[in-house]
Amino acid sequence: MTTLQTNELNSPQRVLLGPGPSNVDPRVLRVMATPPIGHLDPYLLKLYAEEQILLRSIFKTRNDWTFALSGTGTSGMEAALANLIEPGDSVLIAINGYFGFRLAEIASRVGAKVDRIECPLGDIFTVAAIEEALKNKSYKLFALVHAETSTGAEQLNIKQISDSVHRHNTLFVLDTVTSLGGIPVEVDEWDIDIAYSASQKSISAPSGLAPITVSPRARNIIEKRSTPVSSFYLDLKAYAGYWGDSHLYHHTASASLHYALFTALNMITEEVLEARFMRHSANANILWDGLEKLGCAPFIPIQYRLPVLTTARVPSSVNPHTVRNQLLTDYNIEIAAGFGELKDKVWRIGLMGYSSSQENITLLLAALNLLLA
Ligand SMILES: Cc1ncc(COP(=O)(O)O)c(C=O)c1O
Repeated sequence: MTTLQTNELNSPQRVLLGPGPSNVDPRVLRVMATPPIGHLDPYLLKLYAEEQILLRSIFKTRNDWTFALSGTGTSGMEAALANLIEPGDSVLIAINGYFGFRLAEIASRVGAKVDRIECPLGDIFTVAAIEEALKNKSYKLFALVHAETSTGAEQLNIKQISDSVHRHNTLFVLDTVTSLGGIPVEVDEWDIDIAYSASQKSISAPSGLAPITVSPRARNIIEKRSTPVSSFYLDLKAYAGYWGDSHLYHHTASASLHYALFTALNMITEEVLEARFMRHSANANILWDGLEKLGCAPFIPIQYRLPVLTTARVPSSVNPHTVRNQLLTDYNIEIAAGFGELKDKVWRIGLMGYSSSQENITLLLAALNLLLA
């Protein structure tokens, strides 16, 4: 007997309103029951080709090297940095939340000399501040988080930042883990060198795949590396070999996860990307109004507040962790605690993909209303 006291899995049905994963549409769940096939099966290879077309359409890019890596968002992060950085390269990392710190940590582990530009948690960078930091040195790469899930802030002016980065002959890596599929991401228009994401947030597939796209400029740098990529598993040239015409074996990718991602991407296309962004934005506005009325005003100023992830102030009269636990145990609603110095000050509430619905907002606000009373 296991500690779950059952031979059959009987996991709870949760309303997932945290920073990810989001709930998965039943259509996506159903395809996961399709029998898995081999990683070199012609059917799966054909599916990859169609998945690539769908990924390009949501990244808004024509990049040939556009794949879904076997791994979570962190594998996208690690692939971007490990493939572009060679030991001793100087890089600049922007940090205004936890995921910026993670970028800096990974860059340093793959051998880069890391400089950091930081701003307080919850703030975003000005183009001028980044321009100033880029003047210090010749950097091979600059990395930035588009949607900082730890604070709920959306970095604005990505195109202007990109222009500045490229004027300094530096590559631009953008983390779109939380933004892709929820708010506009324009890889070609913004001239991004590598953008990566995750399947389980605004795309609403289960976690386990990391969409990634690589510009011709970045691809050229990767192809001309003088040292092999330190990670065998995340070597993007090997991915190109597997996803490309030669279909060289690299690893045994999960057909079940690709069925799910393919279906979730198709559903995004059916909804139409722009309509999906409007749904996220309209629902976020309803949530924000309701939170204000409950005395839990959003922490981030409206100008750069993320519709997909809201940090809501915790009223001083309540224990944030008790309320969060009660939401889970009494109402089956998952929200998350704040991060770092915001830990006891805010809750993090996600409205991503399939989870972004008026029913879920009504349920959450009603439950919070009872718990705060
Ligand atoms: C902005 C951002 N980057 C990277 C990650 C890491 O993704 P994962 O947890 O899927 O590895 C996350 C996860 O929350 C994230 O929010």
